[in-house]
Amino acid sequence: MLSTPTRRRHAIDLDDFAADELEEILETTESMKEVLSREIKQVPALRGRTVVNMFYEESTRTRISFELAARALSANVVAFSARGSSVEKGESLLDTVRTLQALGADIVVIRHSQAGTPYLVAQHFRGSVINAGDGRHAHPTQALLDLFTIREKLGQIQGRKVVIVGDIVHSRVARSNLWGLTRLGANVTLCAPPTLLGPAAYWTGTWPQVTLSHRLDEAIEGADVVMALRLQKERMQAGLLPSLREYSRAYALTPERLARLGPQTLIMHPGPMNAGVEIWPEVATAPNAVIEAQVTNGVAVRMALLYRLAS
Ligand code: NCD
Repeated sequence: MLSTPTRRRHAIDLDDFAADELEEILETTESMKEVLSREIKQVPALRGRTVVNMFYEESTRTRISFELAARALSANVVAFSARGSSVEKGESLLDTVRTLQALGADIVVIRHSQAGTPYLVAQHFRGSVINAGDGRHAHPTQALLDLFTIREKLGQIQGRKVVIVGDIVHSRVARSNLWGLTRLGANVTLCAPPTLLGPAAYWTGTWPQVTLSHRLDEAIEGADVVMALRLQKERMQAGLLPSLREYSRAYALTPERLARLGPQTLIMHPGPMNAGVEIWPEVATAPNAVIEAQVTNGVAVRMALLYRLAS
């Protein structure tokens, strides 16, 4: 069923994934979806391996889907939570990682509010590290599930116009998606007010193909995909927004904008959503919204990645 993948040790961002490897992961994800459609949703691929989920920042979708993915591959899964562990006694992250290694962990999945933490862990851990979101930096598995969902619904990513709108400057989802989408040949537009876009030179310097916009109504012309991002108030300094109402008027996915887009444009959101701020509830549940499919696909995509790292 599954082809033998090429060797990869860590998945910290998509910047070091070539188009071929992304395609291979999307292919494997299809096989994993097939596994998940069976009555017994489990294969023995990771039997005897131990996956430790270390979530230092809140998470629902990502944490649960990593857990389901590891279980569907028959791995031993341990959920580490900083609360109730020796972290509360002042044990450092690296001591914790060494302890987990001594206890036999093979793969560490880590989410942390500090950008770069997964690189630090990778330097001190003999197994594999998967980044489940680090600060504003990267969220590679979210991007992989977004790529998979676009490909599943539209057939191909090459040449598609993808608009990412909202709190771009704080978004690890936007950054990882930029790597993945541009490698697979999509045309990406980032749309946000200047204070939530950040320096244009950073974006165009890193991804020269990207288009920047401050006007959503112009940006969404001819879009195949519009991906709304959550306003990340927890990472925001005061003064970035005049008012929520102003922001929503200019940048939210409203029913009027949905109508202008037409029924073939995919509406995406990584969740959690601020309904009535960046997206209207009736837009999030429209027939062309694929937000639930994104969540569902998250399990299969994480299975594909775990399988690849464990092989
Ligand atoms: C995203 C995250 O945590 O980076 N959510 C997710 O993983 N599904 C986006 C967000 O928090 O807004």
